[in-house]
Amino acid sequence: MALKMRYLELNRKVRDARMLAIQGIAEAGSGHPGASFSAAEIMGVLYFHKMKHRPSDPLWEERDYFINSKAHSAPGFYAVLSIAGYIDSKEIKTLRKLGSRLQGHPVRYSERQKNHSFPGIEYSGGSEGIGLSVSIGIALAKKRDGEKNRIYTLIGDGESNEGQIWEAAMAASKFRLDNLVAILDRNMIQQDGFTEEIMPLDPVRDKWAAFNWNVVEVNGHKIEQIIDALSRIEKVEDKPSIIIANTTKGKGIKHMANNPQWHGKAPPKKHVPILLEELQSEILIAPSIIAGEPENYEEKVRRAERAGADLIHLDIMDGKFVPTTSFFADTIKHLRKISSIPFDAHLMIEKPVNHVEDYIDAGCDIVTVHVEACNEMEFVEINKMLLKAGISPGIAINPGTPFPSWLIEHLDNIDVMIIMSVNPGFAGQKFIPESLDKMAGTVKILKSNNYKGFIEADGGIDATTLQQVFDAGARIMVAGNAVYGSPDINSNIIQLKHKANVAIETKLLELATINDMRSDWIKSRKNMLIPLARELGIEEDLHAIK
Ligand code: DX5
Ligand code: ZN
Repeated sequence: MALKMRYLELNRKVRDARMLAIQGIAEAGSGHPGASFSAAEIMGVLYFHKMKHRPSDPLWEERDYFINSKAHSAPGFYAVLSIAGYIDSKEIKTLRKLGSRLQGHPVRYSERQKNHSFPGIEYSGGSEGIGLSVSIGIALAKKRDGEKNRIYTLIGDGESNEGQIWEAAMAASKFRLDNLVAILDRNMIQQDGFTEEIMPLDPVRDKWAAFNWNVVEVNGHKIEQIIDALSRIEKVEDKPSIIIANTTKGKGIKHMANNPQWHGKAPPKKHVPILLEELQSEILIAPSIIAGEPENYEEKVRRAERAGADLIHLDIMDGKFVPTTSFFADTIKHLRKISSIPFDAHLMIEKPVNHVEDYIDAGCDIVTVHVEACNEMEFVEINKMLLKAGISPGIAINPGTPFPSWLIEHLDNIDVMIIMSVNPGFAGQKFIPESLDKMAGTVKILKSNNYKGFIEADGGIDATTLQQVFDAGARIMVAGNAVYGSPDINSNIIQLKHKANVAIETKLLELATINDMRSDWIKSRKNMLIPLARELGIEEDLHAIK
């Protein structure tokens, strides 16, 4: 089922929310990065994609409600609201300041509280365990008035120690509140330790099911899974629903991830430029299923997803635009049934304007056409169709094709640009080294024109070339032969992810060195750098720190 989520734009907005939140917390010198980051995709999906709401009319009668009961995630919450258009993102720098509207824990907006809050905040949080009860009041009232508003409530797993949560759980199922969706940010950590040590919550699924709730479990950082769960829940009647979102506290910054120390602590302000670089450096791995043994696409998709691939790259070849023929929309339609992993369709076909509808119907999440296969007018038409269908539009450029200046005008509507590093038509070709300069040159043009989308590298990407294209600006890595060229797909993907990690850490280290804080940075990140010491050449640095 196509999720119509404009995947890459949504992904970028969630990343931007993390970047804003960490700037606010560092500026304030206090705040909660852990929760702001573990709930980033949850809050992002709700405000950027799912909920009916109007930043220009925050009290719109038909709006859906978001009750943030896990109130210490405030910096992340404010960041999402600012990207959604409720406040100027500059205001994040006033977080926790006296007289700021962005208090440490959100304050429900009212005329009386206008100096400590802003329109759009529905609930005053702080002491936890209460938000679900407030949500029940709203849900019950709306249901009794025959209104269609939906109520989404974010709760925490530490917060679930509160008895009131379970009173509310009973009441919600008693009143059959199928307009109420709770989302549990299951990051397994609370204030000063791990939930299962402090107050075991598992088997959490069984608990909620026993309270007669509809229970769904997802990876809380996979936006496609959250969106899929939210749309399935809408069909559930006479029962409230809960999404158990398995998340990582501090996700996004490696030394904060899964680390209770970063529950309520701010990073030093001088680290912010490096932290922002880290957040913009996330690498997505997209295995190309035409590589390796012929066909057997279902198995290839399943194994790649299991091994942690972020996207599936689908090379559509018509035997005309390129000499070979691969598969078409009907095959994709079939594959769409077996997985919600985002599909990255690369159309190497003539006249894509005549065929793009098929790939929209087939359930692709990203559709990229070649600049050599369409003129500006056709591209604009294709782009319109994709955006209308909630699909991320992309454009691909072959090694021999100069960057077409007419693209500049359309950059806001392009979510990904594939800079080919082989001539299209086959997997398993040798990487063309000259494409690195081409990529770096293109990135320069794009940056100077405020391009916000992604750069995708496609062709000959493997453990030896990944760092080079990363340094040239690519953040989505297509890998055909490197993943399916040998039987152990799982370790092939793990090795690529490892190389991606080394590439990112090398870049952050360079930045720390340039900013004269190399040892301080290594010290703050010591635990996760030790395993990479030899590859990063920092054995001596680590030794000196001891
Ligand atoms: C080539 C395709 C690529 C190719 C990648 O025309 O667009 O996606 O399948 O395979 P490798 O990584 O093996 O070059
Ligand atoms: Zn491709």
